[in-house]
Amino acid sequence: MKQFALAELVGAASGRIVDTALPQPASGEVRVRVEAVGLGFVDDLIVSGRYQWKPQLPFVPGGEIVGTVEAVGEGVQGLTTGTRVAAWRMGGGLCEYCTLPAGYLVPVPAPLASADAAGMVLDYATADYALIGRGQLRKGDTVFVLGATGGVGGAAVRIARAAGAEVIAGVSNLSQGDKVLADGASAVVDCSAPDWRDQLRGHPLDLVFDPLGGAFTEPAFRSLGKLGRHLVVGFAAGGIPALPVNLPLLKSASLVGVDVRFFAESDPEGFRQRLALVFDQAARGSLRPPETLCFSLGEAAAAFAALTRRGRGGKVVVCPQLS
Ligand SMILES: NC(=O)c1ccc[n+]([C@@H]2O[C@H](COP(=O)([O-])OP(=O)(O)OC[C@H]3O[C@@H](n4cnc5c(N)ncnc54)[C@H](OP(=O)(O)O)[C@@H]3O)[C@@H](O)[C@H]2O)c1
Repeated sequence: MKQFALAELVGAASGRIVDTALPQPASGEVRVRVEAVGLGFVDDLIVSGRYQWKPQLPFVPGGEIVGTVEAVGEGVQGLTTGTRVAAWRMGGGLCEYCTLPAGYLVPVPAPLASADAAGMVLDYATADYALIGRGQLRKGDTVFVLGATGGVGGAAVRIARAAGAEVIAGVSNLSQGDKVLADGASAVVDCSAPDWRDQLRGHPLDLVFDPLGGAFTEPAFRSLGKLGRHLVVGFAAGGIPALPVNLPLLKSASLVGVDVRFFAESDPEGFRQRLALVFDQAARGSLRPPETLCFSLGEAAAAFAALTRRGRGGKVVVCPQLS
């Protein structure tokens, strides 16, 4: 079988498609025929050696995995061949077949396409954990989502809207406005404008979802209403900002850290249940999956190159069974 592997963490361009033996499931594992693998911001950091966690080499990237169970190892109960499942790992997905611990798997409901499910695994789990788990989002809250066109930002717009919140979407280019409005935002803020914070006046915010950091964090925090919560999700805009600590005091507001890996590792069952809920909402049509940009396994390096393109407009997904 084929896999996309890196011998060094010097960027995806150094990755090669290599032939390797079909993996056999050990006790407690299943072998999955991989149908779709989502890639995100963190995957690019990992393959270029810029992430705090360093994998063993050679490394097969891609951890947002969806596929069909093809063989079941000893001691696995309640999972049969032919079941479609999803898992989130730190890598190992960019291949035709992989083995996964049965305890990590979440069933994928039939109406949901594999590419759509793979595009949801990390981004929707993160947005759900941030908004509902850490942010205590309530129906009727007003949520400002920075980076609303990105993977986790887009998921936050859709999840907040599905939970009954009013969503204001921050974009870096107003040409992206129609898309976030279609995702459920009720207003769009052009964050490329120097006075973008003025566009939030008259909307005291209950929550800020912040995957950008940099110069965006402080003005967004200043726009919170009393008892507001600012969710620190990431630093896609580059810099790690500092915040004057009188601001939380003045607002009785909270700065809330979001680390979905901590959630998945400290409460694996809770993580699985939340992801299953998100899949169920998508299968029933109450939550939209992301738009996907699909690549074959042979195009894995190109898929990584797409990750770093601004204004990409979709979630990058590699479909290893595509020729
Ligand atoms: N805390 C967690 O557990 C967790 C989990 C997953 C991801 N993350 C983090 O979340 C962040 C986003 O990840 P992602 O996978 O959603 O990335 P992504 O899909 O590439 O989205 C990035 C978003 O940031 C915007 N952006 C990038 N650079 C910008 C700049 N200089 N100014 C303004 N906007 C900018 C992009 O806007 P355009 O569309 O205009 O390019 C896009 O909306 C990353 O820092 C990642 O590490 C955190």
